[in-house]
Amino acid sequence: MGIPQPAFYIFKCEQSAPPGMPKPSCVTPQTQDLFQYLAQKLMQDGIMGTVQPIRTACLNRCNAGPVMLVEPGHTMYTRLTKEKIDRIITEHILGGVVVEEFVIESELWDAPMSPCDMQKQMGR
Ligand code: FES
Repeated sequence: MGIPQPAFYIFKCEQSAPPGMPKPSCVTPQTQDLFQYLAQKLMQDGIMGTVQPIRTACLNRCNAGPVMLVEPGHTMYTRLTKEKIDRIITEHILGGVVVEEFVIESELWDAPMSPCDMQKQMGR
């Protein structure tokens, strides 16, 4: 038997804006420990490895930050707090049920466009 691949990847936006930048970002002094909290929670629950947390740059939903994307499923969670992370791990990652109340609004997260359709839209 080989090494099992992860069941989930959690992409946590770790972008912070430079001081004075008007655009919001996912990492501020108030939210800078959320990735660490997520990783510790996965370790405490004994599921690190089958759930792989990944630090990413901007996921282009800055106004809804702090955000993280759970794959598979394209589930984007917004306005994260430690309490929300606890519930997402318990209910979604362990329980298999998406925590709908924390999922991004559909107007900010419409159905994906295929790369082929995007090329057509660009006239290629
Ligand atoms: S800074 Fe996190 S989505 Fe843009």
